[in-house]
Amino acid sequence: MGFERWFNRVLNRTWGFVEDRTAMPHWALRPQPEFSFKPSYWTGAFVVNAFLYQVISGLLLLLYYQPSTSATLTACGQPSGTLSSAPAAWCSTYYVIHSVPMGSLLLSSHLYGAYAMIFLALVHFYRGYYLGVFKRPREFSWMAGSLLLLLTLGMGFTGYLLPWTQLSYNATSVGLVLALRLPYAGPLLGPFILADGTSQGLLSRMFAAHVLLIPLALGALLYAHIALFESHGIAPPASSDPLQRRRFTHEEDKKHVPFMPHIFFYITKWALLYIGLILGIAALWPWELPTYVGNLAAVQTVTEPDWYFLWEFKLVDFVGVTPVIAVGVTTAILLFILFVPFLDRSRPTHPRDRPFFLFLGNSLLSFFVFMTVWGGLTPGVQIPLSAVIERLAPIFIVNAVVVWVFYRRYRQSYTARLAAAGTSGRLEGAYPLPAPRPTTAGASVPEVAGRD
Ligand code: HEM
Repeated sequence: MGFERWFNRVLNRTWGFVEDRTAMPHWALRPQPEFSFKPSYWTGAFVVNAFLYQVISGLLLLLYYQPSTSATLTACGQPSGTLSSAPAAWCSTYYVIHSVPMGSLLLSSHLYGAYAMIFLALVHFYRGYYLGVFKRPREFSWMAGSLLLLLTLGMGFTGYLLPWTQLSYNATSVGLVLALRLPYAGPLLGPFILADGTSQGLLSRMFAAHVLLIPLALGALLYAHIALFESHGIAPPASSDPLQRRRFTHEEDKKHVPFMPHIFFYITKWALLYIGLILGIAALWPWELPTYVGNLAAVQTVTEPDWYFLWEFKLVDFVGVTPVIAVGVTTAILLFILFVPFLDRSRPTHPRDRPFFLFLGNSLLSFFVFMTVWGGLTPGVQIPLSAVIERLAPIFIVNAVVVWVFYRRYRQSYTARLAAAGTSGRLEGAYPLPAPRPTTAGASVPEVAGRD
């Protein structure tokens, strides 16, 4: 018997046993249609994988980390006393990198894992935005997701300070100046984040937020997010059909692929690939710890956050943009993301049928990418307003022109196809109206009940 046959038999038997004793297929996530066997349908699951990796690697780091700004007595585990004045938080990070077996790999993979989680959450968000998955009946899924994105960024923000490097301390101070100006939330958060006003108070609060409060909130919200996904099922592919059904019935579920084990193993395969990639990158490019807070011997010139906040930092570099204005712009963007399901009311979900929101999405995306690169290349460099307009205006103009030309051509070809088919009328007319369904009285009514 070949190894493969033997392996498959063992796997089948083991799975059969688990299935029998747990009845898992009856309570695990609902079955999913065949078309969902594509990575683009599981971008949220990839974020969950990334989150789980962060939890596991974070718990291991917690075994060593000391959230204290006091000078260490152990010189960071080094024989010489050169580091004896370094704060314990920095020292314990240094110790993980230099003295714990595989510590550097663990810490670097936690850091790159954070980048990956934020990147994947952004991909998940943009995919949902473009394909209109936030439309009825998934408005609440979207809103819970928007808050998840905010919490994920909060994890990045609070974690950045923990190694207690001068770089992270400076960047966090700038971030706090901005965050505390958030309308309503800022004054409420202020005393909580700053504690007694000492640096130890700040570190303790950021530590508590990073390892307990935000992960708990994230876990609870994720539970709600997945429960909503479970009740609506996966969103069908984007369509121009205004009468497209947006929810699968339980009858249809019976013809779909069970979540356990098929989709679970499909996602697990991607999860293993993810872990391999993160560990590989961490092994090839281990993170180097910048110098600690208060090291007077160090020359520190730049104040730079991690890449996902560079755009915000660049915004405050613009001459005339006060922290209040920067926070105002950020709040407006956040509110737009949160409430987009109630702003974009068009029936079709395909981006080509939503030119205005396609334009907004493209503009936001290019704005973020441009500002991030700009922030990375010229951190802290003041930019006069004329240069800002000169650089940013083309982004919006080019996007408007591209979307407009694209939409016009699409409508022209659509109208031509309609004419060729002998039909006339509006864009929606291309879709066959739903078949009439007989009523008990013998009259016919259109089948629109299952539209969502
Ligand atoms: C920590 C961040 C997030 C996690 C862990 C997460 C997780 C998930 C998971 C596991 C799903 C099931 C389908 C899939 O795997 O794609 C899902 C679906 C969904 N998510 Fe998220 N999500 C996050 C952030 C977001 C954000 C930022 C948004 C949008 C603002 C969002 C909106 C949605 C919507 C609308 C669905 C339903 C999509 C469908 O049915 O195809 N999520 N999410």
